[in-house]
Amino acid sequence: MMITYEKKYLMDTYNRYPIMLVKGEGTRVWDSEGNAYLDFVAGIAVNSLGHCHPALVEAIKKQAETLIHCSNLYWNEKQIELARMISENSFGGKVFFANSGAEANEGAIKLARKYASLKYGGKRYKIITAKNSFHGRTFGALTATGQEKYHKGFGPLLAGFKYVPLNDIEALYEAVDDEVCAIMLEVIQGEGGIHEATPEYVKAVRKICDENDLLFILDEVQTGIGRTGKLFGYEHYGVVPDIMTLAKGLGGGFPIGAIVAKEDKAVFKPGDHASTFGGNPLACAAGIAVLNEVTKDGFLEGVDKKGKYFREGLETLQKKHKVVKEIRGKGLMVGCEVDLEDASEIVLKALEKGLLINSVSHNVLRFVPPLIVTEEEIDEALQILDDVLSEIRF
Ligand SMILES: Cc1ncc(COP(=O)(O)O)c(C=O)c1O
Repeated sequence: MMITYEKKYLMDTYNRYPIMLVKGEGTRVWDSEGNAYLDFVAGIAVNSLGHCHPALVEAIKKQAETLIHCSNLYWNEKQIELARMISENSFGGKVFFANSGAEANEGAIKLARKYASLKYGGKRYKIITAKNSFHGRTFGALTATGQEKYHKGFGPLLAGFKYVPLNDIEALYEAVDDEVCAIMLEVIQGEGGIHEATPEYVKAVRKICDENDLLFILDEVQTGIGRTGKLFGYEHYGVVPDIMTLAKGLGGGFPIGAIVAKEDKAVFKPGDHASTFGGNPLACAAGIAVLNEVTKDGFLEGVDKKGKYFREGLETLQKKHKVVKEIRGKGLMVGCEVDLEDASEIVLKALEKGLLINSVSHNVLRFVPPLIVTEEEIDEALQILDDVLSEIRF
C-alpha cells in the first residue's frame, strides 16, 4: 500500500527496488514483510559502521538530549572536535562542514576559484575533471561530473569545466592552460563503475598542480572514511591533495559533508560561504562516533583484509562463471564487471535471495558493505552470488 502512495506523493526520481526497509542491525536490514537481507549497499557506502551501531546510536541519542542544532553564528564544541579529528588524521589544514557530498564539492569549487581569484585576479577559473566521474547533482557538482547523461536537460551548466580521460597524463598536460585553477578527481570512480586512478596518474596530477600553482581537489566522498582500507583514498598513492571533500561514510548514516583544505588554501573569509545546518552538533556527534571507531587500532587493517578476502572470493567465482569479466577496487569498495549490457537481473535475483547489491555503469556490480562486515557474512554473500550466477541463463 505504501508503495502505491509513493507514486502519488513522491517525485519520480528513483528506480526503486520493490521492498520497504524498516529495520537494520550490523550488516543486515529487514523489510516490512519481515524478510532479512545482507546489506552490501550500505546506503551507498554510507553505513560505515553498519546499521544502528551502538556507539553511533549512543552518540546521537546523547547529543539529541543535549543540543541538536545551533547556528554557526555561535561556536559548538562537537564541530571543533570533529574538525580537529579530521585535520589531525589527514593532512592538517582546516575544515568547513556541509550536509552532503554535492554540497561539499560545491564549496570546494568555490574555494578553488576564490584562491585563484585572490592570486590571479579572476583570470583563472577553469576546473579540469575526469570523464566518467561523478561529483553530485547540484549545478557546480553536476557540471564537474564528466558524464553527459547526467547533464541532459539541465543546461546551461556552469561555465569553466573541462573533461579529460582518467589515467591519460598527456591529455591532462594538454588541458592545462592559464585559465585553469584546479584539477578535481576521485581516486576510485565510484558511480562511474569502480575505475581506479593509477598511482602514476595521481602523482602526475600532483606534479602538474605544483608546476602550475593549481589546486588538487580530491573528491573522497565515496572513497573516504576507511572505505578503501585506508582512512582516505589518497593515502594509497603517496600524494596529498590541496582540498579534499568528504560525506557519505563520515556520519555513518547521519547527513554530513566536509571540505578539508590545506591551511594556505583555506582562503574563505566570513561571508564567503556558509550553511545553516552544516556542522551542527548532532551531525558532528555522529561524525565523531564514526571516526572514533574507524581509527581504532586494527580497524582499517581489518577493512583491507576483508576486502582482499572478498575479492579473492569473487575471483574464485570468476573462474566458475564466464560472465564475470573483471574485479576491481580497493578495500571494501569493490566492482565486478559482467559481460552483459545490463546487470540488473543479477541485482534483482540477489535481492530475492537476501543480498542487497546495486549496479553502476549498467554492467558493474558494486559492493560497498558496512566496514564492520565479517568474513562469514562475505562468505554468505559469495554463496548467494554463486547461486544467482548459476541460475541465470546468459
Ligand atoms: C564521489 C562522489 N562525489 C559526490 C557524490 C554526491 O554525494 P551526495 O549524494 O551526498 O550529494 C557522490 C555520490 O554518490 C559520490 O560518489
